[in-house]
Amino acid sequence: MSILVLGGAGYIGSHTALELTRGGADVVIADNLITGHKSAIPKNARFYKGDIRDFDFLDELFSKEKIDAVIHFAAFSLVGESVTAPLKYYDNNLCGTKVLLEAMVKHKIDKIVFSSTAATYGEPENIPILESDRTCPTNPYGETKLAMEKMFKWSANAYGLRYVSLRYFNACGADASGTIGEAHDPESHLIPLILQVPNGKRESVSIFGTDYDTPDGTCIRDYIHVTDLAAAHILAVEYLQKGGESDIFNLGNGVGYSVREVIETARKVTAHPIPAVETERRAGDPARLVASSAKAKQVLGWNPVHDSLEEIIQSAWNWHKNHPNGYDE
Ligand code: UFG
Repeated sequence: MSILVLGGAGYIGSHTALELTRGGADVVIADNLITGHKSAIPKNARFYKGDIRDFDFLDELFSKEKIDAVIHFAAFSLVGESVTAPLKYYDNNLCGTKVLLEAMVKHKIDKIVFSSTAATYGEPENIPILESDRTCPTNPYGETKLAMEKMFKWSANAYGLRYVSLRYFNACGADASGTIGEAHDPESHLIPLILQVPNGKRESVSIFGTDYDTPDGTCIRDYIHVTDLAAAHILAVEYLQKGGESDIFNLGNGVGYSVREVIETARKVTAHPIPAVETERRAGDPARLVASSAKAKQVLGWNPVHDSLEEIIQSAWNWHKNHPNGYDE
């Protein structure tokens, strides 16, 4: 039996697929390669190019391969773009998931692990954020992810499948091998943007807002290493294989770092001055997002190990300095 990684050519998907293959799993990857990269796919995984909105594509894949569980990363994930192109997000994230569930029900595949996000919470009620806190997204990206969670909940109820939804905080870092890493186009994430400065791709990095109610006035985020996220997906699959109930888990380190602290750590790691320019706030950014991951630790047995910001940025830098233009294909 195989594990199907949808969106396995993307950032978190490729790291999860790699960890699965290292653990000896038989891995099948499907990706439409719109935002994913062919060279991020592990060599010993079987790859199918196609789109989850295409029922016939999934129908054929599920007929050919014996899939035990699906890990679903196939979604658009840029918050800013989702505000200017909401229907693109509804189409891919929601319509794609609906078609996927239809195909899973037809082929009696009853286990799915799904990438959700801290963006489902919107402006947080409490810090650290618990899974039971209010969900009130402030952008279409978070809204589509929350709607996907609900689609799983009602489908689980009706069709007897089980799901785990993993709400990531700020995914970052790269595999220790230096062979895969983070590459978005356009880039909008803080750490890759900072590393473009020592790479000679930009003169400075912007700090979006210095008047937040935080100790140094800049936003605080919970940065979680992508390899720790990959481990959580594998534990979630095992949890479902052992008969675990459908559930939702936060994934973060439980420690917040400010934008200034991230830039300062990157200066240390890269030994480059990295000039920073203070600018206006970016619309829709909450001051603080820090997870409580107590539930994932207790129920899934998850234990994030790459939790120092220096290690996270060092691993990202190992990849970015050798791939200043991202992936070749
Ligand atoms: N930031 C800057 N300058 C930049 C880029 C970002 O100061 O050039 C700041 C942002 O304002 C924010 C922090 O750095 O305070 C992190 O920004 P990112 O864009 O890297 O990440 P976000 O916190 O906005 O987004 C993350 C995930 C999303 C998820 C969101 C939840 O990447 O998938 O958290 O709100 F939806």
